[in-house]
Amino acid sequence: TENTLAQPVGITLERYIMRKQAEFPYATGELSQLLRDIALAGKIVSREVNRAGLSRITGAMGEQNVQGEAQQKLDVEANIRFIRALTNGGECCAILSEENEDIIETGNPNGKYVVAMDPLDGSSNIDVNVSIGTIFSIYRRVSRVGGPSRKEDFLQGGRAQVAAGYILYGSSTMLVYTTGHGVTGFTYETSLGEFFLSHPDIKIPQQGPVFSCNEGHWFDYPEYVREFLTQCKQQRLSARYVGSLVADYHRNLFTGGIYMYPPTPKAALGKLRLLYECYPLAMLIEQAGGLAHTGAEPVLDVAPTSFHQRAPLFVGSTQLMTTLLDCVSSEA
Ligand code: AHG
Ligand code: MN
Ligand code: MN
Ligand code: MN
Repeated sequence: TENTLAQPVGITLERYIMRKQAEFPYATGELSQLLRDIALAGKIVSREVNRAGLSRITGAMGEQNVQGEAQQKLDVEANIRFIRALTNGGECCAILSEENEDIIETGNPNGKYVVAMDPLDGSSNIDVNVSIGTIFSIYRRVSRVGGPSRKEDFLQGGRAQVAAGYILYGSSTMLVYTTGHGVTGFTYETSLGEFFLSHPDIKIPQQGPVFSCNEGHWFDYPEYVREFLTQCKQQRLSARYVGSLVADYHRNLFTGGIYMYPPTPKAALGKLRLLYECYPLAMLIEQAGGLAHTGAEPVLDVAPTSFHQRAPLFVGSTQLMTTLLDCVSSEA
Protein backbone atom coordinates (compact mmCIF):
# COMPACT_ATOMS: atom_id res chain seq x y z
CA THR A 1 0.00 0.00 0.00
CA GLU A 2 1.24 3.46 -0.74
CA ASN A 3 2.85 5.40 2.11
CA THR A 4 0.04 7.37 3.75
CA LEU A 5 2.43 10.21 4.49
CA ALA A 6 2.61 10.64 0.75
CA GLN A 7 -1.15 11.09 0.53
CA PRO A 8 -1.68 13.76 -2.14
CA VAL A 9 -2.92 16.90 -0.42
CA GLY A 10 -6.36 17.70 -1.73
CA ILE A 11 -7.99 14.30 -1.75
CA THR A 12 -11.40 14.25 -0.10
CA LEU A 13 -11.95 13.01 3.45
CA GLU A 14 -13.98 10.19 1.94
CA ARG A 15 -11.11 9.00 -0.26
CA TYR A 16 -8.62 9.43 2.57
CA ILE A 17 -10.74 7.31 4.93
CA MET A 18 -11.12 4.59 2.29
CA ARG A 19 -7.36 4.49 1.65
CA LYS A 20 -6.54 4.39 5.36
CA GLN A 21 -9.08 1.65 5.92
CA ALA A 22 -7.51 -0.38 3.09
CA GLU A 23 -4.28 -0.37 5.11
CA PHE A 24 -5.99 -2.29 7.90
CA PRO A 25 -7.33 -5.52 6.37
CA TYR A 26 -9.13 -6.40 9.59
CA ALA A 27 -10.95 -3.07 9.55
CA THR A 28 -14.65 -3.67 9.12
CA GLY A 29 -15.46 -0.07 8.30
CA GLU A 30 -17.41 0.88 11.40
CA LEU A 31 -14.86 3.42 12.63
CA SER A 32 -14.61 4.83 9.09
CA GLN A 33 -18.37 5.29 9.02
CA LEU A 34 -18.33 6.88 12.48
CA LEU A 35 -15.75 9.43 11.31
CA ARG A 36 -17.93 10.17 8.28
CA ASP A 37 -20.92 10.75 10.58
CA ILE A 38 -18.90 13.19 12.71
CA ALA A 39 -17.72 15.03 9.59
CA LEU A 40 -21.33 15.31 8.39
CA ALA A 41 -22.44 16.81 11.70
CA GLY A 42 -19.47 19.18 11.49
CA LYS A 43 -20.64 20.41 8.07
CA ILE A 44 -24.14 21.02 9.42
CA VAL A 45 -22.93 22.83 12.54
CA SER A 46 -20.51 24.85 10.41
CA ARG A 47 -23.47 26.13 8.40
CA GLU A 48 -25.40 26.96 11.60
CA VAL A 49 -22.38 28.75 13.08
CA ASN A 50 -21.82 30.77 9.92
CA ARG A 51 -25.45 31.91 9.86
CA ALA A 52 -25.94 32.27 13.65
CA GLY A 53 -26.38 36.02 13.61
CA LEU A 54 -28.99 35.79 10.87
CA SER A 55 -31.03 32.87 12.12
CA ARG A 56 -31.42 34.20 15.62
CA ILE A 57 -29.76 31.18 17.26
CA THR A 58 -27.29 33.32 19.09
CA GLY A 59 -27.82 34.17 22.72
CA ALA A 60 -28.75 32.09 25.72
CA MET A 61 -31.44 29.48 26.12
CA GLY A 62 -32.31 30.87 29.52
CA GLU A 63 -31.47 27.47 31.07
CA GLN A 64 -28.43 26.02 32.82
CA ASN A 65 -26.63 22.83 31.79
CA VAL A 66 -25.22 20.21 34.13
CA GLN A 67 -22.04 22.32 34.30
CA GLY A 68 -24.00 25.17 35.87
CA GLU A 69 -23.36 27.22 32.74
CA ALA A 70 -25.94 29.33 30.94
CA GLN A 71 -26.60 27.16 27.90
CA GLN A 72 -26.27 29.05 24.62
CA LYS A 73 -28.74 28.30 21.84
CA LEU A 74 -25.88 27.13 19.64
CA ASP A 75 -24.68 24.77 22.40
CA VAL A 76 -28.07 23.09 22.21
CA GLU A 77 -28.26 23.25 18.40
CA ALA A 78 -24.84 21.67 17.96
CA ASN A 79 -25.68 19.04 20.55
CA ILE A 80 -28.86 18.06 18.68
CA ARG A 81 -27.02 17.93 15.32
CA PHE A 82 -24.25 15.66 16.58
CA ILE A 83 -26.64 13.38 18.45
CA ARG A 84 -28.81 13.08 15.32
CA ALA A 85 -25.86 12.37 12.98
CA LEU A 86 -24.40 9.76 15.34
CA THR A 87 -27.84 8.19 15.83
CA ASN A 88 -28.57 8.01 12.11
CA GLY A 89 -25.07 6.72 11.31
CA GLY A 90 -25.70 3.60 13.36
CA GLU A 91 -22.11 2.95 14.54
CA CYS A 92 -22.36 4.70 17.91
CA CYS A 93 -24.41 3.00 20.64
CA ALA A 94 -24.21 5.84 23.19
CA ILE A 95 -23.04 9.43 23.61
CA LEU A 96 -21.76 11.45 26.56
CA SER A 97 -22.14 15.18 25.97
CA GLU A 98 -21.09 18.24 27.95
CA GLU A 99 -24.70 19.39 27.59
CA ASN A 100 -26.36 16.27 29.05
CA GLU A 101 -25.91 14.92 32.57
CA ASP A 102 -26.44 11.28 31.63
CA ILE A 103 -25.46 8.96 28.77
CA ILE A 104 -27.61 9.38 25.64
CA GLU A 105 -28.60 5.98 24.19
CA THR A 106 -28.74 6.34 20.42
CA GLY A 107 -30.98 3.33 19.80
CA ASN A 108 -28.15 1.52 17.96
CA PRO A 109 -27.59 -1.42 20.35
CA ASN A 110 -25.32 -3.09 17.77
CA GLY A 111 -23.06 -0.06 17.55
CA LYS A 112 -19.52 -0.98 18.60
CA TYR A 113 -18.40 2.53 19.62
CA VAL A 114 -19.28 5.27 22.10
CA VAL A 115 -18.53 8.97 21.67
CA ALA A 116 -17.81 11.59 24.34
CA MET A 117 -18.18 15.12 23.02
CA ASP A 118 -18.14 18.82 23.69
CA PRO A 119 -20.57 19.78 20.94
CA LEU A 120 -19.68 23.43 21.09
CA ASP A 121 -16.52 24.66 22.80
CA GLY A 122 -15.98 28.35 23.43
CA SER A 123 -19.64 29.26 23.92
CA SER A 124 -18.76 32.68 25.29
CA ASN A 125 -17.48 33.53 21.80
CA ILE A 126 -20.60 32.64 19.79
CA ASP A 127 -22.33 36.03 19.94
CA VAL A 128 -19.14 37.98 19.22
CA ASN A 129 -18.21 36.07 16.07
CA VAL A 130 -14.99 34.56 17.41
CA SER A 131 -13.87 31.02 16.48
CA ILE A 132 -15.51 28.09 18.29
CA GLY A 133 -15.18 24.33 17.99
CA THR A 134 -16.42 20.80 18.63
CA ILE A 135 -14.29 18.20 20.46
CA PHE A 136 -14.87 14.43 20.24
CA SER A 137 -13.42 11.26 21.75
CA ILE A 138 -14.20 7.70 20.58
CA TYR A 139 -13.96 4.40 22.49
CA ARG A 140 -14.84 0.85 21.50
CA ARG A 141 -17.62 -0.14 23.90
CA VAL A 142 -16.81 -2.68 26.63
CA SER A 143 -20.50 -3.47 27.23
CA ARG A 144 -22.01 -6.38 25.26
CA VAL A 145 -22.86 -5.52 21.65
CA GLY A 146 -26.62 -5.81 21.22
CA GLY A 147 -27.34 -4.66 24.76
CA PRO A 148 -27.50 -1.26 26.42
CA SER A 149 -24.35 0.79 26.99
CA ARG A 150 -22.86 1.02 30.48
CA LYS A 151 -21.07 3.83 32.28
CA GLU A 152 -17.88 1.74 32.05
CA ASP A 153 -17.93 2.32 28.30
CA PHE A 154 -17.03 5.94 29.03
CA LEU A 155 -14.69 5.36 31.98
CA GLN A 156 -12.00 3.31 30.21
CA GLY A 157 -9.32 5.98 30.59
CA GLY A 158 -7.56 8.28 28.15
CA ARG A 159 -5.23 5.67 26.69
CA ALA A 160 -8.20 3.50 25.68
CA GLN A 161 -9.44 6.09 23.17
CA VAL A 162 -9.46 4.65 19.63
CA ALA A 163 -9.80 8.09 18.03
CA ALA A 164 -10.00 11.75 19.02
CA GLY A 165 -10.31 15.07 17.24
CA TYR A 166 -11.97 18.41 16.86
CA ILE A 167 -13.71 20.62 14.34
CA LEU A 168 -12.67 24.28 14.37
CA TYR A 169 -15.25 26.75 13.04
CA GLY A 170 -12.70 29.45 12.30
CA SER A 171 -11.68 31.57 9.33
CA SER A 172 -12.05 28.21 7.64
CA THR A 173 -13.73 25.12 9.06
CA MET A 174 -11.22 22.35 9.74
CA LEU A 175 -11.48 18.76 10.93
CA VAL A 176 -8.38 17.50 12.78
CA TYR A 177 -8.27 13.95 14.15
CA THR A 178 -6.13 10.94 15.01
CA THR A 179 -6.85 7.20 15.10
CA GLY A 180 -3.50 6.58 16.81
CA HIS A 181 -1.38 6.83 13.67
CA GLY A 182 -0.52 10.54 13.57
CA VAL A 183 -2.63 13.68 13.29
CA THR A 184 -4.36 14.64 10.03
CA GLY A 185 -6.06 17.90 9.10
CA PHE A 186 -8.86 18.53 6.58
CA THR A 187 -10.21 21.87 5.38
CA TYR A 188 -13.86 22.33 4.43
CA GLU A 189 -14.66 23.63 0.96
CA THR A 190 -18.14 25.10 1.45
CA SER A 191 -18.86 25.47 -2.27
CA LEU A 192 -18.47 21.69 -2.67
CA GLY A 193 -19.61 20.62 0.78
CA GLU A 194 -16.48 18.45 1.15
CA PHE A 195 -13.54 18.25 3.55
CA PHE A 196 -10.23 18.08 1.65
CA LEU A 197 -6.93 16.78 3.03
CA SER A 198 -4.86 19.90 3.79
CA HIS A 199 -2.44 18.83 6.56
CA PRO A 200 -1.38 15.17 6.07
CA ASP A 201 0.86 14.80 9.12
CA ILE A 202 0.61 17.52 11.79
CA LYS A 203 3.49 17.77 14.28
CA ILE A 204 3.74 20.47 16.97
CA PRO A 205 7.11 22.31 17.07
CA GLN A 206 9.20 21.22 20.07
CA GLN A 207 9.55 24.84 21.15
CA GLY A 208 7.16 27.72 20.58
CA PRO A 209 6.73 31.50 20.89
CA VAL A 210 3.25 31.49 22.49
CA PHE A 211 1.66 31.03 25.90
CA SER A 212 -2.12 30.86 26.26
CA CYS A 213 -4.00 31.34 29.54
CA ASN A 214 -6.52 33.68 31.10
CA GLU A 215 -4.23 35.96 33.11
CA GLY A 216 -7.31 37.47 34.69
CA HIS A 217 -6.94 34.53 37.07
CA TRP A 218 -3.32 35.53 37.94
CA PHE A 219 -3.98 36.12 41.64
CA ASP A 220 -5.69 32.72 41.86
CA TYR A 221 -2.93 30.82 40.06
CA PRO A 222 -0.56 28.47 41.92
CA GLU A 223 2.94 29.86 42.48
CA TYR A 224 4.47 27.48 39.92
CA VAL A 225 2.20 28.93 37.20
CA ARG A 226 3.16 32.50 38.07
CA GLU A 227 6.83 31.49 38.07
CA PHE A 228 6.43 29.88 34.64
CA LEU A 229 4.55 32.89 33.23
CA THR A 230 7.27 35.23 34.56
CA GLN A 231 9.88 33.17 32.70
CA CYS A 232 7.76 33.31 29.52
CA LYS A 233 7.67 37.10 29.77
CA GLN A 234 11.37 37.36 30.48
CA GLN A 235 11.85 35.44 27.22
CA ARG A 236 9.45 37.86 25.50
CA LEU A 237 7.07 35.09 24.40
CA SER A 238 3.73 36.23 22.97
CA ALA A 239 0.47 36.02 24.91
CA ARG A 240 -2.34 34.67 22.73
CA TYR A 241 -5.71 33.72 24.30
CA VAL A 242 -8.89 33.47 22.23
CA GLY A 243 -11.02 32.06 25.02
CA SER A 244 -11.96 29.09 22.84
CA LEU A 245 -9.87 26.09 23.79
CA VAL A 246 -10.07 24.58 20.28
CA ALA A 247 -8.91 27.82 18.63
CA ASP A 248 -6.02 28.36 21.07
CA TYR A 249 -5.00 24.71 20.88
CA HIS A 250 -5.10 24.62 17.07
CA ARG A 251 -3.00 27.80 16.70
CA ASN A 252 -0.41 26.47 19.15
CA LEU A 253 -0.32 23.15 17.27
CA PHE A 254 1.07 25.02 14.25
CA THR A 255 3.09 27.84 15.85
CA GLY A 256 4.29 25.87 18.84
CA GLY A 257 3.26 27.04 22.30
CA ILE A 258 1.53 26.10 25.53
CA TYR A 259 -2.14 26.35 26.61
CA MET A 260 -2.89 26.37 30.33
CA TYR A 261 -6.08 26.07 32.33
CA PRO A 262 -4.57 25.74 35.84
CA PRO A 263 -6.29 24.91 39.14
CA THR A 264 -7.37 27.81 41.38
CA PRO A 265 -8.51 27.87 45.04
CA LYS A 266 -12.13 28.04 43.85
CA ALA A 267 -11.66 25.31 41.20
CA ALA A 268 -9.05 22.83 42.43
CA LEU A 269 -9.39 20.80 39.22
CA GLY A 270 -9.61 23.81 36.91
CA LYS A 271 -12.50 24.27 34.49
CA LEU A 272 -11.99 21.89 31.59
CA ARG A 273 -13.70 18.51 31.51
CA LEU A 274 -11.57 15.37 31.39
CA LEU A 275 -13.65 13.07 29.17
CA TYR A 276 -14.46 15.40 26.27
CA GLU A 277 -11.89 18.20 26.46
CA CYS A 278 -8.67 17.07 28.18
CA TYR A 279 -8.44 13.42 27.10
CA PRO A 280 -9.06 13.92 23.34
CA LEU A 281 -6.72 16.92 23.12
CA ALA A 282 -4.11 14.99 25.11
CA MET A 283 -4.30 12.03 22.69
CA LEU A 284 -3.92 14.41 19.75
CA ILE A 285 -0.95 16.30 21.22
CA GLU A 286 0.95 13.09 22.03
CA GLN A 287 0.33 11.91 18.46
CA ALA A 288 1.63 15.31 17.26
CA GLY A 289 4.82 15.04 19.37
CA GLY A 290 3.80 17.27 22.28
CA LEU A 291 2.78 16.74 25.92
CA ALA A 292 -0.37 17.12 28.02
CA HIS A 293 -0.20 17.15 31.84
CA THR A 294 -2.42 18.09 34.79
CA GLY A 295 0.51 19.34 36.85
CA ALA A 296 0.30 16.08 38.82
CA GLU A 297 0.33 13.45 36.05
CA PRO A 298 0.03 13.04 32.27
CA VAL A 299 -3.57 13.78 31.28
CA LEU A 300 -3.99 10.39 29.59
CA ASP A 301 -3.11 8.67 32.88
CA VAL A 302 -5.78 10.42 34.96
CA ALA A 303 -8.20 7.82 36.34
CA PRO A 304 -11.76 8.61 35.19
CA THR A 305 -14.36 8.37 37.94
CA SER A 306 -17.29 10.50 36.78
CA PHE A 307 -18.65 11.71 33.45
CA HIS A 308 -18.18 15.46 33.95
CA GLN A 309 -15.11 15.50 36.17
CA ARG A 310 -12.68 18.33 35.55
CA ALA A 311 -8.90 18.28 35.25
CA PRO A 312 -6.26 21.00 35.12
CA LEU A 313 -4.80 21.18 31.60
CA PHE A 314 -1.28 22.13 30.50
CA VAL A 315 -0.78 21.15 26.87
CA GLY A 316 1.65 21.98 24.05
CA SER A 317 5.26 21.98 22.91
CA THR A 318 7.57 19.59 24.71
CA GLN A 319 10.20 22.16 25.69
CA LEU A 320 7.66 24.62 27.14
CA MET A 321 5.93 21.78 28.97
CA THR A 322 9.25 20.61 30.40
CA THR A 323 9.98 24.12 31.66
CA LEU A 324 6.52 24.25 33.25
CA LEU A 325 6.98 20.87 34.93
CA ASP A 326 10.37 22.04 36.24
CA CYS A 327 8.50 24.91 37.90
CA VAL A 328 6.03 22.39 39.37
CA SER A 329 8.79 20.21 40.84
CA SER A 330 10.84 23.13 42.12
CA GLU A 331 7.78 24.38 43.97
CA ALA A 332 6.76 20.97 45.34
P1 AHG B 1 -17.16 25.51 26.82
O1 AHG B 1 -17.54 26.73 26.01
O2 AHG B 1 -17.27 24.24 26.05
O3 AHG B 1 -17.90 25.47 28.14
O4 AHG B 1 -15.59 25.63 27.14
C1 AHG B 1 -15.05 26.87 27.33
C2 AHG B 1 -13.67 26.73 27.88
C3 AHG B 1 -12.58 26.80 26.80
O5 AHG B 1 -13.07 26.77 25.51
C4 AHG B 1 -11.95 28.12 27.03
O6 AHG B 1 -10.54 28.09 26.82
C5 AHG B 1 -12.25 28.39 28.47
O7 AHG B 1 -13.51 27.79 28.73
C6 AHG B 1 -12.35 29.85 28.73
O8 AHG B 1 -12.55 29.95 30.12
P2 AHG B 1 -12.23 31.36 30.83
O9 AHG B 1 -13.29 32.29 30.30
O10 AHG B 1 -12.33 31.09 32.31
O11 AHG B 1 -10.84 31.75 30.40
MN1 MN C 1 -15.43 23.27 26.05
MN1 MN D 1 -19.06 23.23 25.28
MN1 MN E 1 -19.96 24.93 28.21
